[in-house]
Amino acid sequence: MADDGDRHRQSRLFTDDDGAFDADRAREESLPVEDGEVIDTDDLADHQRYVEGRGIYDERNRVNDLTGKEWKYATKSVIAEGYPPAVQHDLRSEHGGQKPPRLCAELIGRFSKAGDTVLDPFAGVGGTLLGASFCEHDGTGLREAIGFERTERWIEIYREVLEAENEERRARGEPPLAEQDMRHGDCVDLIDDVPDESVDLLLTDVPYWDMDEREQTRNERATRESKLGSFGGATTDEAAVDADEGIDDRRTKADWLADMATTFDRFTDAVAPDGHVVVFIGDMYRDQSYEFLSADLARAIESTAPLTLAANQIWYDPTKDLHVYGYPFSFVPSMVHQNVLVFRPEAASETEN
Ligand SMILES: C[S@@+](CC[C@H](N)C(=O)[O-])C[C@H]1O[C@@H](n2cnc3c(N)ncnc32)[C@H](O)[C@@H]1O
Repeated sequence: MADDGDRHRQSRLFTDDDGAFDADRAREESLPVEDGEVIDTDDLADHQRYVEGRGIYDERNRVNDLTGKEWKYATKSVIAEGYPPAVQHDLRSEHGGQKPPRLCAELIGRFSKAGDTVLDPFAGVGGTLLGASFCEHDGTGLREAIGFERTERWIEIYREVLEAENEERRARGEPPLAEQDMRHGDCVDLIDDVPDESVDLLLTDVPYWDMDEREQTRNERATRESKLGSFGGATTDEAAVDADEGIDDRRTKADWLADMATTFDRFTDAVAPDGHVVVFIGDMYRDQSYEFLSADLARAIESTAPLTLAANQIWYDPTKDLHVYGYPFSFVPSMVHQNVLVFRPEAASETEN
């Protein structure tokens, strides 16, 4: 490109009325801009290229398709983002433990590349699968996703959601979301059909130790308690419900942790050596103490499966309703976050520089 004199002249074209650099104007003129500076693309190394509107992408990136600028944001330890009801939320909420598909798409974008394979062995109504499909249109490209789910009703809902969503997309003139490979059965059996090292990202949301069985009681109790004087129209204290039920969690929790540890050990052969295993898990308050489920689960998985914990990204939902628990006698946390545990296969962690 131009010599220094030309460069100087060119940059002057993108000043605002006060003579300051006008990044918006430069962007409109399709000049590469990152962090408010015009990038001299001649200065980029061979393995770097400028991606229009997104910044510099480094071809050596083995983790995802993000540019440096996007990577910086994606490695933040807190994801402070509310995901308002969307993607046929009413249908999906029959499940009760569903995750926002847009959040899943965000995580898939952080931990995989276009064309990669994503597995969710506890797929529910398909938050991960829908997220993988969103990546084709709103991210860096389609991921192939496989889901395992043992409850047929949740699979039916996934299909209904996809159909309804695609009808709306067609009406808006948008391309349809791809249908992903949802399989019915027990993940412990179905994992045997997945070839070794074929999964680039295992993204899942684990079943809680005795949550499934107690969901019904909790919902009934929730409705009752919301009528009994919680503040500001808040609903129930999940923790208080658990304490009230007087269930001996300790043995069950140990069983659950052991079960999760062996299950994840079985999954690990399917994960590529430079892949990731990403697990949603909320902590809980019960029997008047904080249950650090995320830490317990991380340690249990690490102790059995050849996986190393690389990060815990906190998903903080600023839109979550606050409830008043314990007031005025006891400090009880009002949970507005979930943990997103990020594991890497051990071999990959050992070779990291
Ligand atoms: C926390 S939910 C996952 C919700 C999901 N992230 C979503 O967006 O819908 C866990 C799911 O795992 C399923 N599940 C539990 N044990 C399973 C097993 N052994 N094999 C397959 N699915 C199982 C449950 O039926 C439940 O739907």
